Amino acid sequence: MITLGLLVIVAAASAVVVNDIKQLQAAKNSQLITLRNINVPAGVTLDLDKLKPGTVVEFAGQITFGYKEWEGPLIIVGGKNIKVVGKPGNLINCQGERWWDKQGGNGGKKKPKFFAARLTDSSIDGLNIKNIPAHGFSINSCKNLAISKINLNVAEGHTKGGHNTDGFDVGNSEKISIINSFIHNQDDCLAINSGTDIRFEGNTCIGGHGISIGSVGGRQNNVVQKVRVLRCKVSNSDNGIRIKTVKGATGAVKDITFDDIELKNIGKRGIVIQGNYLNKRPEGDPTGGVPITGLTINNVRGNVLKDGTNVYVWVANASNWKWSNIKLVGGQKVLPQKGIPQGVKW
Ligand SMILES: *[C@@H]1O[C@H](CO)[C@@H](O)[C@H](O)[C@H]1NC(C)=O
Repeated sequence: MITLGLLVIVAAASAVVVNDIKQLQAAKNSQLITLRNINVPAGVTLDLDKLKPGTVVEFAGQITFGYKEWEGPLIIVGGKNIKVVGKPGNLINCQGERWWDKQGGNGGKKKPKFFAARLTDSSIDGLNIKNIPAHGFSINSCKNLAISKINLNVAEGHTKGGHNTDGFDVGNSEKISIINSFIHNQDDCLAINSGTDIRFEGNTCIGGHGISIGSVGGRQNNVVQKVRVLRCKVSNSDNGIRIKTVKGATGAVKDITFDDIELKNIGKRGIVIQGNYLNKRPEGDPTGGVPITGLTINNVRGNVLKDGTNVYVWVANASNWKWSNIKLVGGQKVLPQKGIPQGVKW
């Protein structure tokens, strides 16, 4: 009896290094899985789903993937009480340039999504990622997930045809934090289409479409509530901060704070709050079925390029907005405004 008990303890506490994907299934019994220098075959997901509670997964060395046109994801991590840790010098090199054709998810080559998180009471820290084929982190139906110190570098996408390289897409999730990360890409740095209690803090976003809530509406979950975007920098991007809700849809965007946001060289709109998003394009009058309420924007500063607009608001049914200390300069394009709650100015 005693011997048997000891054996069980030893097995459960084991650590294993994986450097071939064939070893992965067996490794899932370990408490510590170290992935080191793996070349994942084409069309195969690096499958870390259904991990045992308490598992630690380390990324070490370089992870690469074979080439195939497929939907992905390249990596999935799922479970409860899971720690994903990037060891110093780790690199997940997706070599997305093999898929890039300027069309992203809209056509051309079918591009695998990068990373699906299905995590509860878990953390992801310190991953270095290069050249995702298209969308980055898909955070869907996660609860209590802390993401930190992610370095997502898709800078080469600007010259080599990267498109729709979203950083973090958050849907239907609760208590998510993304902090102290760096994202250089060609689409939203963050896009939240539904979820509650989401913190995006201390992040740097370069080259993409800015920090977005939306589009909200037309999905199964159409409520975004309690979002805090704090101490972030957005540069060389289409937009700085953005909320977009879908025309004709129902839902809610409420209790949202953007505070201490530095913008630099924004091409289109510094702040854009838009209630008439449809088919990827704004379309006439906003309808008000996704009211934007409790929107605090404080201390947003920086410059918009001269063909852009510093602040653009085109909404219906909005209320309880508190805007202060907005110092955006440079944008000379004047756009019509609609639905600004009383007392809000910049
Ligand atoms: C405005 O929002 C409220 C909820 O705050 C909702 O009951 C109402 O139907 C909305 N109005 C329109 C025109 O959609």
